[in-house]
Amino acid sequence: MKHVLVTGAAGFIGCNFVRHLLRQDRQCEVFSLDAMTYAGSGHNLAQLDEVHRHEFIQGNICDDLIVKRVLQEHQIDTVVHFAAESHVDRSIIDPGQFVKTNIVGTFNLLEACRAVWHGRSSVRFHHISTDEVFGSLHAQDPAFTETTPYDPSSPYSASKAASDHLVRAYARTYGLSATITNCSNNYGPYQFPEKLIPLIILNAIHGKPLPVYGDGRQVRDWLYVEDHCEAILRVLQHGKTGETYNIGGENQPTNIEIVRSICSLLDELHPQSPTTPHENLITYVTDRPGHDRRYAMNITKIRREIGWSPRHTLADGLRKTVQWYLAHLDWVAAIGAQGNYQQWVDKNYVQRGAPIEGKL
Ligand code: NAD
Ligand code: TYD
Repeated sequence: MKHVLVTGAAGFIGCNFVRHLLRQDRQCEVFSLDAMTYAGSGHNLAQLDEVHRHEFIQGNICDDLIVKRVLQEHQIDTVVHFAAESHVDRSIIDPGQFVKTNIVGTFNLLEACRAVWHGRSSVRFHHISTDEVFGSLHAQDPAFTETTPYDPSSPYSASKAASDHLVRAYARTYGLSATITNCSNNYGPYQFPEKLIPLIILNAIHGKPLPVYGDGRQVRDWLYVEDHCEAILRVLQHGKTGETYNIGGENQPTNIEIVRSICSLLDELHPQSPTTPHENLITYVTDRPGHDRRYAMNITKIRREIGWSPRHTLADGLRKTVQWYLAHLDWVAAIGAQGNYQQWVDKNYVQRGAPIEGKL
């Protein structure tokens, strides 16, 4: 039986992956390790299927005693590493925590695996990374491939790039059996409402301004989280150690197109909002410093070698996401009530996100 350690399991993608894994692999036991920062919540792991095959452990990946103990006591043979500080805007304000968790924490996990797995076969370290390590594309540039040179722009993407380099170095130097996936922007159930899509949904239904950075014409590649979880599991099953795979949603809308799509979905699904049409709430605000203009993923390799491609179109995924948030306002209230989220929003976003006069 596989004994899988999922780090960052109480966060957005981690909790979706734990659900997917328990459902798809009836033989595995899953151990969730999470420090429960502002982004982690027990509510994300509530009502799991197959709960007898799941155990939650609160702990920090920077704590080598905890990490080694978990690996040994539970005879972990597979690590799926999601734990990270994940928000670009926070990394601009407080980069130190990103260096600690994303670089030192990943180093610590790798060291623990090297020590505990020494000489063991049939083990795997799978590292979750991002398309942001490749930097920004111009309008006519081809999409990122697995061999695009790294060129990160933000403290977040620089810290993820550093962690990717460490994982590759451990594979080459110590023979650690490792794989890496670089995915594009995820969206879907359980995403913390500091990220664009849930923030826009929730602000819109409360009649609050919808902040669009700069001219809103930045381009992202959007990946529905369930498609991402399916891809990760397929890479665990069929990926070759030492390899990297890009994962993307095969769509590249501008941010303003995404915001407008959410507004029209809410006009249809939530006509009782205080302000309709919801587009009237769109507010252009000061741009993010160092804001990458365009990301796009070439997913030929994972399609050809693993046989994975995304199941959801952006229209399907956005509709499901809006419906999920409307049906889970109790979850939103519960995570909003925990930790320092609202204080941070008041202190940072409101100061920086000054509205720009007129529409660009
Ligand atoms: P998230 O912020 O929602 O969750 C991160 C989780 O990690 C939280 O539960 C948090 O408590 C935990 N954590 C943070 N620091 C920790 C520490 N020191 N020790 C243990 N746990 C800690 O993030 P997410 O959106 O679910 O992202 C998961 C992974 O996917 C990250 O590595 C991120 O870089 C990567 N990624 C995310 C996206 C996206 O669009 N969300 C895109 C590309 C890559
Ligand atoms: P975000 O969800 O923060 O993800 P990332 O920075 O990792 O891509 O942002 C997605 C895009 O939306 C990005 O171009 C920044 C933009 N954005 C806004 O325009 N307004 C917002 O309030 C937020 C949070 C993001």
